[in-house]
Amino acid sequence: MENEQKKQVVFSAIQPSGTITLGNYLGAVRNWVRMQDEYNCIYALADMHTITVRQEPAQMRKNILDAYASIMACGIDVEKSIFFIQSHVHTHAEMAWILNCYTQFGELSRMTQFKDKSAKHADNINAGLFTYPSLMAGDILLYQADKVPVGADQKQHIELTCDIAKRFNGLYGNVFKIPEGFIPKNGARVMSLQNPLNKMSKSDENANGCVHLLDPPEVIMKKFKRAVTDSDACVRYAEGKDGVNNLMTIYGAVTGKTYDEIEKEFDGKGYGDFKTAVGEAVIEELRPIRERYEQLIADKAYLEDCYHKSDELALRISSRTLNKAMKKVGFIK
Ligand code: TRP
Repeated sequence: MENEQKKQVVFSAIQPSGTITLGNYLGAVRNWVRMQDEYNCIYALADMHTITVRQEPAQMRKNILDAYASIMACGIDVEKSIFFIQSHVHTHAEMAWILNCYTQFGELSRMTQFKDKSAKHADNINAGLFTYPSLMAGDILLYQADKVPVGADQKQHIELTCDIAKRFNGLYGNVFKIPEGFIPKNGARVMSLQNPLNKMSKSDENANGCVHLLDPPEVIMKKFKRAVTDSDACVRYAEGKDGVNNLMTIYGAVTGKTYDEIEKEFDGKGYGDFKTAVGEAVIEELRPIRERYEQLIADKAYLEDCYHKSDELALRISSRTLNKAMKKVGFIK
């Protein structure tokens, strides 16, 4: 128990805005799994963030449950960690409103994700898309998180979270722990197999660019065989060889081999052999995950038990922070 108390709190979340990809897995979820013993981990499906972009309701329901089962299948264990659904825990919406009133228009206007997404969804630049970072700040601050593992694209949001927290603490005393965002060192940045200058994304125009966690083996192999490379015909990590670099990153992340080791392994061999090896390694890495997913998704009652249990724990912890913040601001009981 003594030790339990000393464990630092890790908080992170992922949006269930489609399938979980190989990029999500190697870049984020696999690290979430690894952190479960060392830290007090609290993870969420950020479904409230997802509706900042228009969703089809039936598809969204399916995506949420699929994402929950997929992430559990990767090894998130609700006996060790909390893994809840954001919209089930009402403190998040409430905290977001309060924090909105301590976040400046100018700060939100500078967020590069807002600028990118409003360019991409020019017909729906809604207020939620704009205030997305204060909802995210609430997610983190409610749990007094010490550490927040995120991708590089979320760094600016973490910095804003710290600014908001410091501002609030400056006015009212120590209400929020100031979190530390970090980009996990062993989290691979996986790029599109078709356009290796872009991050691997489920919204890739070319479906072959993105490997989904639940893709069947033959589909995975086909995607790797079609992966973009170059005319150098040599497996080595070098500037300008973005396609090969990306395949080496994926192979290294899955097998634990260094770039040097990979170069030696494929010395004198062509890209065909290399792509097949990467495809096989990924297939073997994902096989048990897909099997576990199939079991989980067939047992909705069990999944529901898991998230209900986590939702309740999350509510209990987050209510403490919310109540404290509300009292400081001047609301009465
Ligand atoms: N915005 C994050 C993303 O799209 C997801 C997210 C929501 C999150 N709340 C969070 C990540 C809190 C870390 C902490 O990737």
